[in-house]
Amino acid sequence: MKDSQWISSPTQNSRWVAMEIEECISRRRDTRHFLSDEVPERVLNQAFAAAHHAPSVGLSEPWRFVVVQDQKVKQKLFDNFNAIHRNATLELTDEKRKQIFLSLKLEAILEAPLGVAVFCEHPATENLTIGIQGTTDAFEWSCACAIQNFWLSLTAQGYSAGWVSILDMNLFKSELKVPETWIPMGYLCVGKPATNYEGIPMLELKKWGKRSSKPVIFYL
Ligand SMILES: Cc1cc2nc3c(=O)[nH]c(=O)nc-3n(C[C@H](O)[C@H](O)[C@H](O)COP(=O)(O)O)c2cc1C
Repeated sequence: MKDSQWISSPTQNSRWVAMEIEECISRRRDTRHFLSDEVPERVLNQAFAAAHHAPSVGLSEPWRFVVVQDQKVKQKLFDNFNAIHRNATLELTDEKRKQIFLSLKLEAILEAPLGVAVFCEHPATENLTIGIQGTTDAFEWSCACAIQNFWLSLTAQGYSAGWVSILDMNLFKSELKVPETWIPMGYLCVGKPATNYEGIPMLELKKWGKRSSKPVIFYL
């Protein structure tokens, strides 16, 4: 990225900006290997601003973020991850798959300079939210949009995130002391990437899975 300012600069040539967005989307990686560099406040603030520009059902803006820097809290989250990860290992019966699974690094909780826990708070029921009459899941989908914006902004600025969902979510909530009603979306390990995994998903690089060549689309 030549100039990380483009996100907040509407005066740029729009075709050039569109190309940069495509590049940023394809360069974004789920990162589990970080350098020890701190994440500058301006980088984090710009990523939060991008998250807050996400679409949200009925303009509910239901995302809630908890920034984790305390090593003791990170240790609790890491122990939480380990317990769930161990159970997942027990589910694998195919020995070859098990060996690949065990070789995968699926979090960077302790070494990422900071973590961002993301929660979804449904608004008070007495307020009508436009768009949730079909399903209230739309609140969580809004939070997923915010996470993607956050992730892309970090990528554009030369940083990255790794999404950790392998957690006991009830324990996760109590470890972070958030209100009982908040719905956990996951924990993002944030920092400067130590690798781009040769430009492909790490799970593909490690031969766990393969990204399909095109999306599934039906035309009616
Ligand atoms: C909702 C969600 C949860 C995820 N949870 C984890 C996780 O717990 N651990 C992990 O290593 N990767 C996790 N990932 C990352 C995916 O494995 C990754 O996005 C996928 O392999 C494609 O790689 P890429 O993001 O680099 O394109 C998660 C991704 C999403 C969207």
